[in-house]
Amino acid sequence: MELKDNIRLEALPKHIAIIMDGNGRWAKQKGMIRAFGHENGTKAVRQVVEASAELGINNLTLYAFSTENWNRPKLEVKTLMKLLISSLRKEIKTLQDNNIQLSAIGNLNLLPEKVHKELTEVIQATSKNSRMTLTLALSYGSREELISTVKEISNKVKNNIIPIETIDESIINKHLYTQNLPDVDLLIRTSGEQRISNFLLWQIAYAELYFTHTLWPDFTKDELYKAIIEYQKRERRFGKTSEQLS
Ligand code: IPE
Ligand code: IPE
Ligand code: MG
Repeated sequence: MELKDNIRLEALPKHIAIIMDGNGRWAKQKGMIRAFGHENGTKAVRQVVEASAELGINNLTLYAFSTENWNRPKLEVKTLMKLLISSLRKEIKTLQDNNIQLSAIGNLNLLPEKVHKELTEVIQATSKNSRMTLTLALSYGSREELISTVKEISNKVKNNIIPIETIDESIINKHLYTQNLPDVDLLIRTSGEQRISNFLLWQIAYAELYFTHTLWPDFTKDELYKAIIEYQKRERRFGKTSEQLS
């Protein structure tokens, strides 16, 4: 029996989000430069995207570059942006073959022109695909997202489009970058760090958190299956008592 067969398909998380961490350490362990880790990280991305689509996960969101990552050495940022362009070009076929729609969240205007262009093209080209939505968080920071949300809503209030009294969770959801996505059910972080690093703070309010020491380039389909099996063992109470649920 394969690991995958332990997953209950009727109880899949609707939205998995992953903080893909540990590329640099993976490369260092091999005596290589950080860029080598990032390159190999793209292989793990393909594994996880394919495995998610095959299982029937509807939404997969990957944290690829944070607002804070702009503070890394210039050369590393440049390498990451180049890698992004080449991966988008290369993976468009994987997306089309698997009927996956690409989407992006973050302050995308900060991305270099070339990345922005490539990204827009792939988003356009896959916009009719319906099996799974793959969202890349790029130049993404949850606080930045919340600031932009507050500004948008404030503007609508100022222009009498939204009465203050009607502001509720659903209005806030509609103004987040993730407006079309359901709440995160399962948040995975690789590399052993146990922190959120400014990722989807609002959207993970009731997510199950899963931390693994595996470094991102070593993350395989089986690693994803393990996380989902663990998720399915958890009791999600949403504030209720265990007795109320059964
Ligand atoms: C994750 O790996 C990739 C990005 C944040 C872009 P890191 O580059 O953070 O690798 P470590 O954490 O230094 O090992
Ligand atoms: C978080 O990883 C961001 C991404 C995975 C894109 P970092 O490596 O940047 O996080 P910190 O700085 O260690 O918290
Ligand atoms: Mg890191």
